[in-house]
Amino acid sequence: MKPLLQVALDNNTLSDAIKSANILGEVVDVIEAGTILCLQEGMEAVRCLRALFPNKIILADTKCADAGGTVAKNCKNAGANWMTVICSATIPTMKAALKEVDDLQVELYGDWTYEHAKQWKEAGLSQVVYHQSRDALLAGETWGKKDLDKVQGLIDMGFKVSVTGGLELETLKLFKGMDIYCFIAGRSLRDAENPREEANKWQEEIKRIWG
Ligand code: 5RP
Repeated sequence: MKPLLQVALDNNTLSDAIKSANILGEVVDVIEAGTILCLQEGMEAVRCLRALFPNKIILADTKCADAGGTVAKNCKNAGANWMTVICSATIPTMKAALKEVDDLQVELYGDWTYEHAKQWKEAGLSQVVYHQSRDALLAGETWGKKDLDKVQGLIDMGFKVSVTGGLELETLKLFKGMDIYCFIAGRSLRDAENPREEANKWQEEIKRIWG
């Protein structure tokens, strides 16, 4: 299946996020209220995105670590379809969150293992996000074979695997032949000289590679 394209709105203010969403929202498949935006503006950001885009998938990137049921209910009430939990959250936190939203993504940071992934699968989770952290990228990390092998391992377990973290248009071809569920991009789309044109280029490149 052709991978989806998700824009991460990690804007610092709601007004700036709305500006980005207005430019990019129709071109992408999923609109994310980024962690930074959620921390700055709370669920009002999700409410505004839902009001602007009644028919799009909206993700609240809460990276929730606890109180999964409550946080997920708040996200759902604000209009989100999906939300994220951090991979170190407990299984009860993940299960409680999954009950409230249409789908839940486990954000992979730090020292997760395939044994953990097996437990997420058994708990009913089907989506994971393989993440290159912003801080790791700043410290000089790049996308490479070690990442692709881990992503493929998760795909082989049957997960829908999204990838994110410093992705650029040129990075997409690295994943050729892999069953990626969704490419999540923030700065490369939002900060492009012409964000809508850039997002169209990403969609064309995804179509070219995955047909
Ligand atoms: C940060 C995130 C970002 O939303 C995600 O990594 C995409 O951002 P960018 O493409 O700008 O790196 O989850 O925690």
